[in-house]
Amino acid sequence: MAIPGLIIDVDSEVPVYRQIADGIQAATADGRLSRGDRLPPTRDLARSLQVNRNTVVAAYDLLAATGFVHGRTGRGTYLASEPAARDLPAPANAGTADGHGEEWFSAFSQTVDGPGVDRLLSAYQLATADEGISFAGSYPDRELLPAGVFLKSIKAAMKEEGAALLAYGPTAGYPALRNTLAEEMTRKGSEIRGSQILITNGAQQGLELVFRTFLDPGDTAIVEDPTYTGALSVLGSLRAKTVGVPMDEQGIRPDLLEAALIRHRPQLIYLQPTFQNPTTAVMPESRRREVLALAIRYGCPVVEDDWAGDLRFEGKEIPTLHALDHGRHVIYLGTFSKKLMPGVRVGWAAAPKEVFRRLVALKQISDCGTSPILQAGLQRYLAAGCLRPHLKRVRAEYRNRRDLMLESMSRYFPGKVRWTTPPGGLFLWVRLPKGLDSGELFVAARRKGVLFSRGDLFHVDGQGPGATGSNTLRLTYSSASPEQIDLGIRTLGDLIRSRWSESPHDGGEPLVEAVPIL
Ligand SMILES: Cc1ncc(COP(=O)(O)O)c(C=O)c1O
Repeated sequence: MAIPGLIIDVDSEVPVYRQIADGIQAATADGRLSRGDRLPPTRDLARSLQVNRNTVVAAYDLLAATGFVHGRTGRGTYLASEPAARDLPAPANAGTADGHGEEWFSAFSQTVDGPGVDRLLSAYQLATADEGISFAGSYPDRELLPAGVFLKSIKAAMKEEGAALLAYGPTAGYPALRNTLAEEMTRKGSEIRGSQILITNGAQQGLELVFRTFLDPGDTAIVEDPTYTGALSVLGSLRAKTVGVPMDEQGIRPDLLEAALIRHRPQLIYLQPTFQNPTTAVMPESRRREVLALAIRYGCPVVEDDWAGDLRFEGKEIPTLHALDHGRHVIYLGTFSKKLMPGVRVGWAAAPKEVFRRLVALKQISDCGTSPILQAGLQRYLAAGCLRPHLKRVRAEYRNRRDLMLESMSRYFPGKVRWTTPPGGLFLWVRLPKGLDSGELFVAARRKGVLFSRGDLFHVDGQGPGATGSNTLRLTYSSASPEQIDLGIRTLGDLIRSRWSESPHDGGEPLVEAVPIL
């Protein structure tokens, strides 16, 4: 029996019992646990976290000392129905590795307190780690970044506009770039003007600004389950209640979405209709229309994250939700990170007028605007027609790498492993037979110099052994060379085979598991 979202970082400076106590407090604060709830028996929680039972006992004792929990005499431990009488003191031996920093521990806000921060930072470090063979993260190959051409674009912009690009620019962004983006979206069927486009520092900032526009602490967001960890982090930091709706191979399930809309009355729905991260699912047009109709019926805004737009290398483009909806109820997020270069940190949000005004206000609060010189360089790059040949090249390359990865998987993975064949994007999604744990595989693979993203980390309701998705993983093909793909997949195949022969398993499950959790 686990506590949703609670995982332990064994490398953390914070003692494990303290991580557990902090995690229970955090879960109570953001609604994963409710006051009055019974906590799991210490033996069960210890088993699910793979820690000593005494460690859990120590965590419960600590919480009991502050009045956060009560009733520890054989009949179970319950969260107190009132807020705790005293705050939990700072961890005794917590601090930075050099022994400094303890004095800060009582100063932090709830957003950055507790073990969640270590977990978040280690996930991002892993995504960008420059070690061994990495199928983790989701980004373009460095070799494919257009350094030379972009340098020329920046120089041309500076030559024309000089010091103006070194001053503050308009908060909403460089006007010519906003117009170019609106024209491109219009070409794809959207009704949008440059005046409704806000330039952001990547889609990540777009997510934060849009979520902040609609969510107060305790409000509810509906997301596909599993979904992008960066979106879950923003929702967590805003103290929103996140409701995950299961998917099938066509994306979020409309029947369960409707049930969630009725039950939770959310403030927004966050969706990635194309090459969903992490499952790679693509919503067909009919499903997109169905989902939109539900959102409109229940009066709930939709946030469409089109992070891998333009990275389709097979099949026909499907209209975005924004295009299908004529931009009335959908706020669209785009980015140049995946199709061009993440380092320029340019993304955009397209929104109805009234939403747009609020987004600009939050953007001003957040950072006073995205770098004018980078936006101007990007605009020159686009105006010179450089994106089209670049996309042609990267699509061909990614298709090739996807095929290599599929071939290697067919060769080296046992027959009962299932995976997707995405028609675009940067990665594929793998399901191991039940009984095999991707967390364990991760530790063993890392020792052999191979990294990937564990599937459980993308789920709303829990991480660690036995959690939803603990037999899934995401493998990115875009940033590994053909040789690395073959060697890395062979290494994973060997490890899976050796675990396969040791573990009890039932095998042969469908790739997308739809578990009603509402
Ligand atoms: C689904 C999804 N949305 C948004 C982002 C944020 O990307 P960026 O801020 O680089 O545009 C990512 C990055 O991996 C992503 O996978």
